[in-house]
Amino acid sequence: MTTPSSIHSTDKAQKALIVIGTRPEAIKLAPVVKALKNRTDMDVRVCATGQHTDMLFPLLDWFGVKRDYTLDVMEHGQPLSHLAGKLMAGLHDVMAEFNPDIVVVQGDTTSAFVGAMAAYYSYDYFWKSGLRTTPPKIAHVEAGLRTGNNYSPYPEEVNRRLIGHMCHWSFAPTQESADALAREGIREGVYVTGNTVIDALFETSRIVRESGRNPLPQIGTDKKIVLVTSHRRENYGTGLQEICEAVKTLAARYADAGIEFVYPVHLNRNVQGPVHDMLGNLENVHLIEPQDYPDFVAMMSRSHLILTDSGGVQEEAPSLGKPVLVMRENTERPEAVAAGTAKLIGAKAGKIIAETSALLDNELLYRQMAQAKNPYGDGKAAQRIANLLCGESAEKNFLGREAA
Ligand code: UD1
Ligand code: UDP
Repeated sequence: MTTPSSIHSTDKAQKALIVIGTRPEAIKLAPVVKALKNRTDMDVRVCATGQHTDMLFPLLDWFGVKRDYTLDVMEHGQPLSHLAGKLMAGLHDVMAEFNPDIVVVQGDTTSAFVGAMAAYYSYDYFWKSGLRTTPPKIAHVEAGLRTGNNYSPYPEEVNRRLIGHMCHWSFAPTQESADALAREGIREGVYVTGNTVIDALFETSRIVRESGRNPLPQIGTDKKIVLVTSHRRENYGTGLQEICEAVKTLAARYADAGIEFVYPVHLNRNVQGPVHDMLGNLENVHLIEPQDYPDFVAMMSRSHLILTDSGGVQEEAPSLGKPVLVMRENTERPEAVAAGTAKLIGAKAGKIIAETSALLDNELLYRQMAQAKNPYGDGKAAQRIANLLCGESAEKNFLGREAA
């Protein structure tokens, strides 16, 4: 664990530890860190767990989020249990040193789950050593997303369910997610705040627009871009092969129609291997490194449509008016599907080819899906969360309503 020497000095009213493990957690917690740091009554420290490194640190730098603690847990191909064990020990040390009043986790990664669990367990240490008489309060940002299937997405569905039962605050992005928590008996401390990804997207889109950023200068403006991302564990193996088969077939079919496929490939070796093996050296398929957030936002804005199994991209695409075909069997984000900008198509090559071709060939169908809609927030979720964490009343600060 690396920590700066000035870590102990604070005379602020409360101390909050923000746990960030992976790319989407950085994007979705950066606005919360910023909102909390603007306050005078909260001492805020960030722990980067090291679950992601290359894909995380540049994003934190872009958002101006300083890492106060950085754990060293990355090992290629390690089992989830090994990752969880290292995270548990590392996060205990961070909590023992900082002694937070509040621990904030986001989403459903192993870092988020272990962050909540380590905070819950830390009371044993604090109580025995006489350092605290009350447990740290756990806050869950993006609470209540559910598919109802413990193995899809795996392990995220169980991670987020378990976090839900340890929380003092559950910040649900939509009423649907608050309703899902209520069905599990979680009603106390539930607030519908909107998703902080919209805060990050609005701010970054504005900067991208003003700077005229163009991360794909090699692709002429006369071309249409299909943006592809994938990384879900359920799609390792067969699913990913089917996705690559579909992209290969579509690339050949639409080569003369000026369609270019852009695929920032996740650094997970289970993804890198098959994608490069099956799609390397195709003229209109561009396999590129994972992008920093402003470049990826610029790519989404420039794209014609998006093929993805990502959670965050399903939330961002509707705001940008980009049709998104979700290469999964289910989704915990049904709002975009209901709004008509996202469609669940599974991860079979035939279906991916048929649905993508339909959108590329049928202008009317395309226009029906390419409506800018935003079921996920108004860009003010982080401020609401910061206010609630600082003890300000829900009535005064919360524009939604507390779940019954
Ligand atoms: C993780 C999360 C997933 C989230 C995704 C966001 C878990 C179990 N999975 O999946 O919920 O949607 O992040 O992208 O928490 N790697 C690098 N450098 C990096 C990042 C990853 O080399 O910066 C490689 C390493 O070999 C690493 C592997 O990718 O072992 C897998 O990373 P891991 O965090 O276990 O899973 P993800 O597939 O990234
Ligand atoms: N993203 C990014 N660069 C990329 C690909 C994605 O910044 O090259 C962003 C994307 O805009 C979204 C987030 O990363 O906000 C989604 O991360 P990911 O798909 O890895 O995880 P998930 O959302 O599925 O948990």
